[in-house]
Amino acid sequence: MTEQELWKLLDNMSLEEKAGQLVQCNAGQFIENHLEITGPNGESLPAEELNRVMGSVLTFEDAKQAKALQDKHLAADPNKIPLLLMLDVIHGLRTTYPIPLAMGCSFDDGLMAECADMARKESAACGVHVTFNPMVDTARDARWGRILETNSEEPLINSRMGAALVRATQGDSLADPGNVACCVKHYAAYGAGEAGRDYNTVDVSERMLRETYLPAYKACLRAGARLIMPSFNALNGVPSVANKHLMNDILRKEWGFNGVVISDYDAVGELVTHGIAEDLKDAARLAMEAGCDIDMVKNAYYLHLAELVREGKVAEEKLNAAVMRVLRLKNELGLFENPYHGADEEAEEKLYLCPEHREIARRAAEETAVLLKNEGILPFRKEVKRVALIGPFAEETRLNGFWSRPGAERYTVTIPEGIRALLPEVELVTEKGCGVEIGDTDLSGIDRAAEIAAGADAVILALGEPENYSGEGRSRAELTLPGPQLELARSVLQANANTAVILFNGRPLVLNGLARTAPAILEMWYPGTEAGNAVARLLWGEANPCGKLSAGLPRSVGQYPMPYNRMNTGRPKPEPDDQPAPFSSCYLDMPNLPLYSFGYGLSYTSFAYEKLELSRRTLEKGGMLQVTVTVRNTGSVPGKETVQLYFRDPVASVVRPVQQLLDYRKVFLNPGEAAEVVFTVREEQFRFYGMNGEEISEPGEIRISTGYADHLILTERFLLLPESVNDH
Ligand code: BGC
Repeated sequence: MTEQELWKLLDNMSLEEKAGQLVQCNAGQFIENHLEITGPNGESLPAEELNRVMGSVLTFEDAKQAKALQDKHLAADPNKIPLLLMLDVIHGLRTTYPIPLAMGCSFDDGLMAECADMARKESAACGVHVTFNPMVDTARDARWGRILETNSEEPLINSRMGAALVRATQGDSLADPGNVACCVKHYAAYGAGEAGRDYNTVDVSERMLRETYLPAYKACLRAGARLIMPSFNALNGVPSVANKHLMNDILRKEWGFNGVVISDYDAVGELVTHGIAEDLKDAARLAMEAGCDIDMVKNAYYLHLAELVREGKVAEEKLNAAVMRVLRLKNELGLFENPYHGADEEAEEKLYLCPEHREIARRAAEETAVLLKNEGILPFRKEVKRVALIGPFAEETRLNGFWSRPGAERYTVTIPEGIRALLPEVELVTEKGCGVEIGDTDLSGIDRAAEIAAGADAVILALGEPENYSGEGRSRAELTLPGPQLELARSVLQANANTAVILFNGRPLVLNGLARTAPAILEMWYPGTEAGNAVARLLWGEANPCGKLSAGLPRSVGQYPMPYNRMNTGRPKPEPDDQPAPFSSCYLDMPNLPLYSFGYGLSYTSFAYEKLELSRRTLEKGGMLQVTVTVRNTGSVPGKETVQLYFRDPVASVVRPVQQLLDYRKVFLNPGEAAEVVFTVREEQFRFYGMNGEEISEPGEIRISTGYADHLILTERFLLLPESVNDH
C-alpha cells in the first residue's frame, strides 16, 4: 500500500478500531497452545470482540497456528487489517543455540550472525513477523536471573552482537517473507535493578545511563531494528513505559527513532501497581503520552483510549501517529498482500533441526565454552577407555536455558549420546550422585558415585544450576552450586584426580572451592540442542576451547557490582590484590578482583603476544590510527584466540574507568603460526559524557593495551590532540 492508502485506511477507522490496532493479545486466548506466558492475561473481554479489533498477538507454536490466527482475525475484522504475529525467539526456535551470555563468550559477531540467520529461517517458516530480540540489557549482577539473556557485562559486545543479530534477522527487506523484524529490549537499564532482583527499581546517573546502558539499544536501532520495548523497571523514579525523558527526549528526538514502541508484558497496567497511575485509564493516558504505541496484553488502550480522546485528554493526532506506525510496519512486512508472510508447514519440516542448523548450533556450543582451569588433564588422552560420567547433569536433557521452546529437551543431544557418537569404544558408566535443587540434602548416592569414579580412567563431573534457576523472575541471592553438589565434587575428586568438571548454568557462579580443588573446569553454560556433541568433542580435543568470559566470575556475591571497567578511585588498592591494604578501597576479607576476570579463558594451546604497535603517536579530532598486535600460537595444536584491545584515559575532567574494551577480533592460528591483527581506532571511541552533558574527548595521553581485564600486557601510548591543532 502507498502511504496515502494507509492514511485513507486510518480515516475510515472508528476510535475503537484505532485503539484496537494498539492492542496485543495472547494468542492462547484464541487457539490452544503450550507456550509459557510471563504474566497475567489482560482485563477480561470477550475473545470474539478482541479478535475483531486487535492489531497483534504474541506466543503461538507453529505455521499452522499462525495461519489459523490470521484467518480467524481477517474473517472478523471489518477493515481487513492483518495481524502482526510476535514471538520470543531468543536463541533459536527449534534448533537451540547457546544462551546469549554464552554467545558473548565467543567474542565472534560473525558466529552471532550465523546463529541469528538460522533462527530467522526457522522463525519465518513458523510464521513469526516480529521477534522480541535482541535483548541487550548490559548486566553486571549475576543475581539477576535474566543476565543469561544478555551477551555481556560490556556494552561494546552487546552493541556489536545485538547489531549483528538485527542485520541477520531483518535482512535487506522485510517484505521478503524469509525475514523477520526485530524488537530490541528492554529500554532502558533493566539489568541494573537494585540488589539483582528482577523488575526492581533502577537509579543511575545520566552519565552511567549514557555510557553503560544506552549504547547497545542505540546500536541495534542504528542497525535497523523496527521496534523497541521499554523495560518493566522504574528508571530514576519513572517506569520506562511512561518515561518521557527516555521515550521522547532520547528515543524519538535525539535518536530519531520512528518505528514502533511496544510495552513489556502488562507494563501499562503496572503503572498502577508502581503507584504512578490512579487507575488503568490513567495508566493508558500516561503510556500514550510518553509514546508507547502498543499495549502488550493489558487491554488498557482498548478499554480507555477512545474515551480519553473524546474527553480531550489524549490528542487524536497522537493516537493516529501510533496507529500509523503499526500500519506502516504491517505494510513493510507485506502483510496486506501476504498476511501469512513466511508461514509454511513444509518449510518448517525441512528446516527445524536440519543437519545444517545442527552443525551451526554445535559449532556455537563449542566456541562459547570457556575453559576456566586445566592442570594438564584435558583433552583426555585417546587411551582413556573407561569413563565415569557423574553428577546431576550427567544425563540431563534440559540444557537449553530460558526462552527455549517447550519440549526443546526432547531434541537435546545428551552427554552420553555425544560421547557414544564420537567414541563408540569408550566404556561409559553414569551415576547421578546427588540432586541439584536448593533444598536437596540427600547424600546417599555420593559414596556409590565415588566408587565408580575410583574405578575409571577418567571422570567427567557434570554440575550446574537447574535450567529454571535463571531467566525472567528468577533471581538468586546466593550464587553457589545448589544442593549437595560440592559434597559430591569433594568425594569424586578424592576418589579420582583425573576428573574434569563441566558446568551448566545461566549466570556467573561462585566457584571458589571447586576452582581450588578441581584439576579442570569447563564452563558450558546452557549450550542448546547440540550440547552432548559439543561436550564430547571439547573433552577429547576434537574441538579446542576458545571462549572468553563475557562477564567476570565473582568470589562472592558481596563483590557485586564489580564491573571490569570500574572507575578509578582516590585510594585505589595497591598490589597485591590478595592482601588488604589499610585505608584503600578494598575488602578486609577477600581480594577486590573477581575469581576469573572478564575476557579470561584458556585453550589447549598457548598464545604469545609479541608486539603492540601504533601507526601514529598523535590523534586529532575525527582522526584514526592503526593498532597492530602480533600474536603467535606457541603450543602444539591449532586454536583460536580472541585478541582484545583495551584503553585507559589516565587524566580527564571526569573520572574514567581503569580499563575499557576498545575492540576485539578472533583469529585462528596453527602451531607456530603468527598473525598481525590490525585494529583501526577512531577518535570518537575515546569520547565520554562530559560535565555539561556533551560527548567529548579531551587532549592528553591515551594508553592502549592488549591482554584481558586486570591482566593487561604490552601497553603503548599516544596523544589526543587539542581541537585547535586540527584546524591548522
Ligand atoms: C518479558 C519480555 C518478553 C515478553 C513477551 C515479558 O515478560 O520481559 O522479554 O519479550 O514477556 O513474552
